[in-house]
Amino acid sequence: MAKQISRRRFINQSAKAGMAVTAAVITGNRLFAGANVQSGGVFTGFDQTPLPYAYNALEPFIDALTMEIHYSKHAAAYATNLKDAAKAEAVDMSKPLEDVFGKISKYSAKLRNNGGGHYNHELFWKSMKKDGGGQPAGKLLSAINQSFNNFDTFKTQFADAGKNRFGSGWAWLYADKDKQLKIGSTPNQDNPLMDLCEIKGMPMLGLDVWEHAYYLKYQNKRADYINAWWNTINWEFVQKRFESL
Ligand SMILES: [Fe+2]
Repeated sequence: MAKQISRRRFINQSAKAGMAVTAAVITGNRLFAGANVQSGGVFTGFDQTPLPYAYNALEPFIDALTMEIHYSKHAAAYATNLKDAAKAEAVDMSKPLEDVFGKISKYSAKLRNNGGGHYNHELFWKSMKKDGGGQPAGKLLSAINQSFNNFDTFKTQFADAGKNRFGSGWAWLYADKDKQLKIGSTPNQDNPLMDLCEIKGMPMLGLDVWEHAYYLKYQNKRADYINAWWNTINWEFVQKRFESL
């Protein structure tokens, strides 16, 4: 499981250590200049964190080989290349990655692509679990109903965002600066925290629609992959993220 420490404790530890700390996940609230929204209470470090379940945990919806290649090859490479770029461009890796996205337009394409790739996948892994699926509850469900009328309409609109993304990219459920939930999509590894992104806000749930996420099992049938993916969602994780805004 990802290591979670409080922001105050993180700051204390950082001060005591007197050195850069690449915390895996840091919890707390913080204002992001780029997105102009409060965070989802989860901050992302530059290192890849352990997958919180086995490669086969999401079977039959996402197969073990896809998970293994996706996590240990694709996502691992994003983390490695992100750190290479961050070193080359003097990015302070003791700070959350989210801080960088608000000014990502000032950095290289390598940092943008691999920073987004790392962040998006870290969120993606955590938003799924064994025996997932079902429906959200509490404030998240209320907010979904407020924005999209009902859960089924939300699912249809979100799935459409994934199906209609031309080429590679992501579908997003995100909270805007007024904490209103919205649906959108981004190309490549961009995300709504980036200052150059057309949609802006804090990602709550992201769906990877790159072919590497589904091609072994679903080939060209992206819609089938999306339909199956609903059965993997860790709604408790998404709910906590939303409720910490
Ligand atoms: Fe991916």
